[in-house]
Amino acid sequence: MCGIVGYTGPKPAAPLLLNGLAKLEYRGYDSAGLALLTPQGRLKIIKKAGKIGNLVAAVKKAHISPTITAGIGHTRWATHGHPTDRNAHPHTDCGGEVAVVHNGIVENYEKLKKQLQAKGHHFKSQTDSEVLAHLIEEGLKHQSAVHSRQPAGKAKAWVEAVRWALSQIEGTYSVVAVYEREPESLIGARAGGGGLVVGLGKDENFLASDVPALLAHTRRVYYLDDNEMVILSPSGTRVVSVLNGKPIPKKVSEIQWSAEQAEKGGYPHFMLKEIMEQPRALEDTFNSRLDLGTGEVLLEGKFWSSPFVREFKKITLLAMGTSFYAAMVGKFLLEKYLRVPVEVDNASEFRYRDPIIGKDTLAIVISQSGETVDTLVALREAKAKGAKIAAICNVMGSSVTREADGVLLTRAGPEIGVASTKAFTTQLGALWLLTLHLARVRKAMPPAELKRKARELARLPMMVGALLKQRKAVEKLAKLYAKYFNFLYIGRGIQYPIALEGALKLKEISYIHAEGYPGGEMKHGPIALIDSKMPVLAIALKSSGVYEKILNNMAEVKARSGKLIALVEKGDKLAGKKADHVIEIPAISEDLSPLLSVVPLQLLAYEIAKLKHREIDQPRNLAKSVTVE
Ligand code: M6R
Repeated sequence: MCGIVGYTGPKPAAPLLLNGLAKLEYRGYDSAGLALLTPQGRLKIIKKAGKIGNLVAAVKKAHISPTITAGIGHTRWATHGHPTDRNAHPHTDCGGEVAVVHNGIVENYEKLKKQLQAKGHHFKSQTDSEVLAHLIEEGLKHQSAVHSRQPAGKAKAWVEAVRWALSQIEGTYSVVAVYEREPESLIGARAGGGGLVVGLGKDENFLASDVPALLAHTRRVYYLDDNEMVILSPSGTRVVSVLNGKPIPKKVSEIQWSAEQAEKGGYPHFMLKEIMEQPRALEDTFNSRLDLGTGEVLLEGKFWSSPFVREFKKITLLAMGTSFYAAMVGKFLLEKYLRVPVEVDNASEFRYRDPIIGKDTLAIVISQSGETVDTLVALREAKAKGAKIAAICNVMGSSVTREADGVLLTRAGPEIGVASTKAFTTQLGALWLLTLHLARVRKAMPPAELKRKARELARLPMMVGALLKQRKAVEKLAKLYAKYFNFLYIGRGIQYPIALEGALKLKEISYIHAEGYPGGEMKHGPIALIDSKMPVLAIALKSSGVYEKILNNMAEVKARSGKLIALVEKGDKLAGKKADHVIEIPAISEDLSPLLSVVPLQLLAYEIAKLKHREIDQPRNLAKSVTVE
């Protein structure tokens, strides 16, 4: 939630920052702003409610000089205060000398605001973030006096003032601050969720909430950990602890993604591009990991060959949203093939009960971004209770990957559309890799079956590719169904999470009310909703152990005049006859079928949202990474 960028170097800062913000717009898009450090040692603030386009227009109108080569930017997802010009970031202190951009929540802001107001500070916005600018101002008064006689005292006072301000706030944050009297140093800091990446260039350095904002400039990065503060100048960066000011060495890593991967590449929306990329994303996820000769899965890192992976007694899967539905599919696979108890927990609920996990538990966290605060907090809770942590994640270097004992990267490439698509299918692919690996090391599956499954898995990218060719047929169906206000998705067994995912895709991008149910639940309540205005999409695959039961659910819907779309195996006349419309997928074993059945549901949601002229990549009220609780 909220995107942050920072730059200091020789290039004109405004276009560079605007470009970076455009790459982060998926993190928040209700207002945006820049704070630019002029060569005359002044701060220039431009901020606007609405999408980044509004800010771009305002910057153009302001005729910003190309001699301005340092600044910070922000794209907001409002938590406190309406999305207005005034509440947009950056926020400044009373004198307009300090500017801050912030991602997170200052939980004690009301108390701090009162204290600061009592000292004469004047607040201009309704945000929690503004207290940071005023706290830094307070810190500067004190620290300037302390350090005034020392060489480089001004620079020291600036760093210490920010450090002091951060020590006053409670909550999670990523923050970047600039001070017009110290134009050579941008300060970034992080505690809790949010993510802050430092990008290293030649005579220039960058800060961003997320890697896509940096890809056009550098791939050499490091990530700030909790309670770390970076001081950034064109000539270098240094990291110190927010807690005690001591230097912290950082390990620089090389990002594998390219700048082109974060572009639309000719597609009208990122979501469509990402749906169409799924064969490639799956292939990359399997590449060099699946040995088709032996059925062996080769996972990177020592954790996967440690004694623990042979010995754990229980699995807990933790995730949110679409990743949570992937976890639900994972439960089926892991339980079936490992024969160990598997629990799936909505990560946001996990720490508010007292889950029974301990040293013999493998907690698998699943997250596309690796920065979802609920998932991160659940990870920490599981760790504190003694569990070992495995992460299935798409972003190397993200918080989740840094805090886990073992990591399985999904290699989907940057996912920019808010609606998760290729991240989901690659998470399913990764769960399969994990299942096969654990089944082999725990001797839970005979080698011949392992080999057969590995080969089936390897065919999936090609099968998904073939399925995507049905886009036209789904488009036609969308035209018939875009007019409805409600939708039910039903599935049973391993297809129940896919029903949930199909409903989530539709509601989040088209704003049509949609719910997913296990077919068996219908008679316990939801069937009361069925009439001629209620379309039901039933996933009825012949390979399913509960095929007949879902056929019964379909008959019950038709008997009540419901509109019925059936997602069936190619050539299945029996299921097809019961429905008004049919979507076909190729025959595949039940365990692997979610990787195919979800694809037409993604396309259907996309086509309906397109017909309804929705902002597909940036649906209202949402942000790609949920970094506040
Ligand atoms: O980055 P994560 O996988 O942790 O994100 C979890 C959810 O916020 C995410 O899957 C969300 O539900 C998507 N917008 C759904 O399309």
